[in-house]
Amino acid sequence: MINDTVGIIGGTGWLGGAIAEAVLAKGLVSAGKLIISNRSGKYPLAQQGACLVTDNQDLVDRSDLVIIAVRPEHFASLHINATGKTLISLMAGITAQSITAKTLASAVVRAMPNAAVEIGQSFTPWYCSGGVEATTKSLVQRLFECVGTAAEVQEEDFIDYLSALSGTGPAFPALLMTALANQAMLAGIPGDIAQLAAKNVVVNSSQLLASHDAQQMIDALVAYRGVTAAALQVMRQGDFDEQVGRALQAGAAVARKGLQA
Ligand SMILES: NC(=O)c1ccc[n+]([C@@H]2O[C@H](COP(=O)([O-])OP(=O)(O)OC[C@H]3O[C@@H](n4cnc5c(N)ncnc54)[C@H](OP(=O)(O)O)[C@@H]3O)[C@@H](O)[C@H]2O)c1
Repeated sequence: MINDTVGIIGGTGWLGGAIAEAVLAKGLVSAGKLIISNRSGKYPLAQQGACLVTDNQDLVDRSDLVIIAVRPEHFASLHINATGKTLISLMAGITAQSITAKTLASAVVRAMPNAAVEIGQSFTPWYCSGGVEATTKSLVQRLFECVGTAAEVQEEDFIDYLSALSGTGPAFPALLMTALANQAMLAGIPGDIAQLAAKNVVVNSSQLLASHDAQQMIDALVAYRGVTAAALQVMRQGDFDEQVGRALQAGAAVARKGLQA
């Protein structure tokens, strides 16, 4: 358990709330050293001993480490002076430079978790701007390991690109699952069976990839020259990799352009 006080601005939202619950559940932060803010002033974690405030400056003043977990469009109306503090921003599409200019923070960490924080299965790349001490970096890593895996990246642009990749969480699998089920139904498979089959592929069978190399798996299935090989071949001939590349670049372009209102 750490001694630092952690403040989460927007700590009642999807990401901020999941992180708040995880750091308490994993014992990284004690309830007495967790401060959460929102505008509405309601949150169950307050009953567990975490402090809930509606004054963001009060949160900043009392915290050693501050996480900003509000939506990008709400950043413009967030007025805090974080002089001397390190801020961790989860906001997509808002540069470290804009955050430093608006908050006067001495250092900014941009981190990009995804919706799987809810089940402790996020991947969170993070980038440091300004002088961040090794002890703070280690704390950032431990904090995001409470909700999955995490890794520091050396370029801020990687965060924008990864916003469109891991930041999208379940989006790509959801698209694949929907396409598999819809196409199966179009081919005459009953809806309930199509849904079960598609869900098994995306949610269950894919678990094998946790312990098998994906490329080796593809190579082995293609070498088998069976049903799977024929299906994969059509995907590859249909420009699948390039289409994925275009999708990621489109998302990254939105992140780079900025999402601030
Ligand atoms: N969701 C994702 O999959 C995902 C993935 C990657 C990155 N992100 C980033 O994570 C951030 C949070 O996203 P989210 O999906 O968790 O949003 P969310 O569920 O809407 O949560 C935002 C929270 O911020 C609070 N809030 C808004 N303005 C505030 C203010 N001025 N002061 C204090 N609290 C304030 C809201 O509570 P009140 O309304 O009560 O104030 C709410 O609890 C976003 O910046 C997003 O870019 C999200």
